[in-house]
Parts: sequence; structure tokens; C-alpha cells
Amino acid sequence: MAKNRDSWASRLGVILAVAGSAVGLGNFLRFPVQAVQNGGGAFMIPYFISLLLLGIPLMWVEWTLGRYGGGFGHGTAPGIFHSIWRKNRFIKYFGVIGIFGPLAIFVYYTYIESWTLGFGVLGLLGKMKTAALHKDTMQAFLSNYQTNLWPSYLFFLLTFFANMYVIFHGVSKGIERFSRWAMPTLLIMALVLMIRVLTLGAPYPEHSDWNVLNGLGYLWNPDFSALLDPKVWLAAAGQIFFTLSVGIGVILTYASYLKKTHDVVLSGLTSVSTNEFIEVVIAGSIVIPAAFAFLGPMEIEGVAKSGAFNLGFVTMPMILNRFPWPQFFTGLWFLLLFLAGVTSSVSLVQPAIAFLEDEFNISRRKAVMIFAVVSFILTQPVVFWFSKGIVDEMDFWAGTVALVVFALIEVILFTWVFGMDNAWEEIHQGADLMVPRIYKFIMKYITPTLLLVILVSWLVQSKDIIFMTKVPPENRPFVLGTRLALLGSLLFLAILVNIAWRRREALAKAERSKEEEIDEK
Ligand code: ALA
Repeated sequence: MAKNRDSWASRLGVILAVAGSAVGLGNFLRFPVQAVQNGGGAFMIPYFISLLLLGIPLMWVEWTLGRYGGGFGHGTAPGIFHSIWRKNRFIKYFGVIGIFGPLAIFVYYTYIESWTLGFGVLGLLGKMKTAALHKDTMQAFLSNYQTNLWPSYLFFLLTFFANMYVIFHGVSKGIERFSRWAMPTLLIMALVLMIRVLTLGAPYPEHSDWNVLNGLGYLWNPDFSALLDPKVWLAAAGQIFFTLSVGIGVILTYASYLKKTHDVVLSGLTSVSTNEFIEVVIAGSIVIPAAFAFLGPMEIEGVAKSGAFNLGFVTMPMILNRFPWPQFFTGLWFLLLFLAGVTSSVSLVQPAIAFLEDEFNISRRKAVMIFAVVSFILTQPVVFWFSKGIVDEMDFWAGTVALVVFALIEVILFTWVFGMDNAWEEIHQGADLMVPRIYKFIMKYITPTLLLVILVSWLVQSKDIIFMTKVPPENRPFVLGTRLALLGSLLFLAILVNIAWRRREALAKAERSKEEEIDEK
């Protein structure tokens, strides 16, 4: 029996919340690094093709599945999958990935998010002005921040509690209210930075071709030769998954708070468009052109390849340091990242909360407490052993492989088990827009095939990661420990699902026998 669940207060609110989940560190930090690592203009064609063939169809699948499951009182994948395929006793266990993924990503995402708060505050106070004069000193500033507990642990605690505070207030009064002001605010902050970068021109007269316009050309001039490189395709598809928050499980949960009559076609598309506008138009006009103008075409690639955080945390502060009002712009950059991070990380928390509320009848307050304790404990190894390769390992399994596996399960379940005709009808319940008919074919055949190809090629290409061949011997116990912990969490969640379903069956049985007793009397 579906109990009274929370629900979104307004249509704009849910769109902003889903867009908030999508717009995050992935847009401002991951996207430029991926684009530069994969040759700039070479990246954008596979990127847009992945958006059309994977991102957009999966987004519709998740909005619809979520709304459907919510109608049966389920806000997470185990229950939603079970509602779709009741006869199958095992399908609910596949749904465990949709709670595991967000939880695991939350554990490392929040820590990186806390650096943005730390750097934002330190930047505003002018504490990195001297370090940002040179690459080596800025690099040292970043490593010091990562290795010393003060002040980074304080910012981590503040970030962690900020997330819990939003979640504690629930879906409409917490997430929705927060997104309603955070999204416009971050958009304004990003626009200010973009305008600042676009008016930079060429900072070095001796390198007049190192200018913002050529920086934009670096991203936008297509390079068709790279279309044959599978690595670029995998990177582009991975970025689409991460940035849209599809394949994680969070959109399912957000959509489960929709009413049956609420449109998903236009709302979903609006959230995707908002994310893409902020990623390719705004974020694409900040880091890449700025770094291109200051570093030139050669060094920008070197920096992007030298580490995932170097463009955002080393190069950007150096560039912003040369602007008039360096403290203001450095603070603005990192606080923008922080705001974008929080709107995403709260969405990573909600599936676990919804699972406890919906399947165990636990109150939201208690569920948030349980989540806070468990996730706080899990974050500690990430904070204390950051340099041991734990984050990369988690990002590979939970932030990359799990997304593709989960998306594959969802799309097959929806278009093959539920059936494409039913799926089509369900998508269009209350819809304000018709999905182009070609998507019937894309969703049923193209998206699953592409996902399968991606999964297999990824695993083949990642032999080094899987067999830990490039992990220094002293880090292997940590990487192995992370892997075991991930596996343990999956198993633990599967056991919880098992308990929840047994309880549900026992309750239903007790209710039936009570009814029978009354009938007999
Ligand atoms: N979609 C979120 C991001 O881009 C996770 O950061």
C-alpha cells in the first residue's frame, strides 16, 4: 500500500532540482578536462551523438520509470524494477545498483566538493594570491590542502552538514527550495565569469594567436579523423552519463515524487537542455578559452593530462589571479563550483533516504540520521587516504562501469520487458510534447546496443585498472580494500532488499488472514 510520500511543489521546482542534479562538478571541471584530453574539436561530435542516442533516451526512460514506480510507493530501483516485472523474483536485486551507485559517488564527490568551498573561502580572503603566481607553488598549495587536515577537514565537515541540512528538510521543502535559488544564482555567477573570460583577448602580445577566440575554436572546430578512435567515443559517452546524472539512479528517485499526470517529456528535455547549455555554452567558454589564452595549445593538453584537478584547481586560480579583482574572481569561480556541487550531491543522497522511507517505513529524520552516520564513516578513508588511489578506483566502478550496467538493465526492462508500446504510452501520460517516433526505434535497439558495445570495450580497454598493473605496490592494499568495500556494500544492500521484501510479504499475508477471519465471522 502506497503511503503518503513527499512530492514536488511545482513543475519549475522539479525541473530545477533535476537540472541541479545534472549541473555539477562534471560540467565545470570534468567536461573541460575530458574535452582537452580527447583533442578538443575531436570530442564534440561523439559527445553530441552520445547525447542524442544515449543521454536523451535514457533520461526519458528514467523520468518515466521513476514516475511509474512512485505510483506504487517505490522511489528506488529495487521497487521500481519489481513494479515493472512482478513475476521475476530476482529483478529487484539488479535495482540495488541504483542505491549503491549514488551512495558510492556521494562518498568521494562530497570530498572534492568540499575543496571547492575551501578554495572559494581561501580565494576570497586572498590566501592563495602568492601561491597562484607560479605553477609549482600553486600545485604545492593544492597538495598541501589535500594532505593537511587543517583547514580542509573543517571545510569537509561544513560541506557534509550542508548536504544533510538540505536533505533533512525533505524533497519539496529541502531540495526544491534550495534548487530554486541555487540554480539561478549559479547561472548568474557562471555568466559573470564567462563574460570576464570572453573579454580577455590575447593576454601575451608576443603570442597573439593565444587568444580567447582560438581557444573557442580549439573546442568547436570539428576534427573528423578522431571519429575512428574508440577511446574518444568512450570518453564522450562517459561524460554524457556523468553530466546528465543518468544511469546513476537519482533521476528515478526524483521522478518518483511526480504525480501520474505530470508531464515527463518536456520537463525532462528542459532539464537536459539546461544542463547542456551550462556545460557546452557557459562552462565551455570559461576554462578552455581561458587556459588556451594563457597556456597556449601545447601546454593546455599537458596540464589536462597531468591530473584531473589541475585545470580547475591549479590553472584557473593562476589565471584568475591576473585579472583585476583577483580575490573576487577566484572566490566566484570556486563558490560557483561549490553551489553546483551541492545541487548534485543532495541528489546522490536522496535514493538511500527514499529506500529507507519507502521500503522500511522509517521516518525521514531517522533515515537522514542513518545515512549521515553511515556515509560519514565511509568518507573517512577517502579523506585520510586520498593519495592512495581510492577515489580513482571508486570513480571507475561506481562512477563509470555501474552507470552503464544500470542503464543497460533499465532500458532493456523498459523497452523489452514492459514492452515498447506500453513504454511509449507511459512516457506520453500527461505529456506536453510528443517524443519523435524515431525514438521508439532508438530506445529499443540503438541505445541498448550502444550500451553493450561501450561496456565491453570499456572493460577490454581497462585491463590495467582491473588488474591494477599501474597501481604502485604500496597502494595495492588500499585499492583492493576499496574494491572489497564496494562489493561488500552491494551485498549489504542486496540483503536489505531481501529483508524489506520478506517483511512486505509477511505483512501482506497477515493482512490477508485478518480479512479472511473477518469474512468467516
Ligand atoms: N551530474 C553531476 C555532475 O555533473 C554528477 O557533476
